[in-house]
Amino acid sequence: MALIDIEIPRWSIDLIYGNTGSGKSFFTGWLIEQAYEQGRRFIILDTKVKNHIGLVALKGVKLLKIKPNVRYDFSKLVNYDQLLVIPTKGLISKIGVDGLIEYYYKPILNELFKKDRDKIIVVEEAHRYNPSSRTAGKELEQLFREGRDAKLYTIAITQSIADFPKLLFRQAQRHFIFKHYIPNDLFYLSKMIPDFEELNNQLRQHDVLEFNPKSMSYRIIRREYIIRRTRHYG
Ligand SMILES: Nc1ncnc2c1ncn2[C@@H]1O[C@H](COP(=O)(O)OP(=O)(O)OP(=O)(O)O)[C@@H](O)[C@H]1O
Ligand SMILES: [Mg+2]
Repeated sequence: MALIDIEIPRWSIDLIYGNTGSGKSFFTGWLIEQAYEQGRRFIILDTKVKNHIGLVALKGVKLLKIKPNVRYDFSKLVNYDQLLVIPTKGLISKIGVDGLIEYYYKPILNELFKKDRDKIIVVEEAHRYNPSSRTAGKELEQLFREGRDAKLYTIAITQSIADFPKLLFRQAQRHFIFKHYIPNDLFYLSKMIPDFEELNNQLRQHDVLEFNPKSMSYRIIRREYIIRRTRHYG
């Protein structure tokens, strides 16, 4: 039992944003641990080689390492109920994170969208899936716009919310926001959330502001309540 309840809806689009080191992946790992306890299916597309999100200690969670010069049949991935995907060091030194996303993770998102049902899809570094801050990448856009019927619940993690396409931003059902420091971000968020600056002042490092744009309701999840069951490698 967790110290604080977090709702794991059947379907949602969650956006998680904060600077590097703020605690996005740590928090997401905690959320997925709750989902795991409820028997939910998930896939995590991580971009980190060693300092990944963890969770591999959970029984039944499969770890897939993407290696260079190996052909993968992504249509098979829909058969895994709980999967963490990470790149190898060799792959990253060859094609970088952008190559990983372009040649592996975007095709995986396409396959999931076509064939998978009732799954939580965690997308790390979601800003990199978009051609620009004004244009949404089509793989993310189709999930955000049409994932609901298939109960494909997307959790998109990004460092820079002001650079995230507005089209996608507006689809979010829930926002999990860490303390912000950059004036441009503060300005942007103040337009969406009344009293954001004051709420932001109340946040400490690793605290999370949960915001629901439909009901305009929010709460602060204190960092002490975010306790991981499995090791976070980040
Ligand atoms: N609630 C918390 N309690 C204790 N430690 C935390 C908490 N949240 C995060 N941390 C610690 O802060 C560090 C950074 O967290 P995390 O890896 O989640 O950052 P991040 O936002 O994902 O950064 P990046 O954008 O670089 O991936 C980790 O070492 C983690 O252990
Ligand atoms: Mg992270």
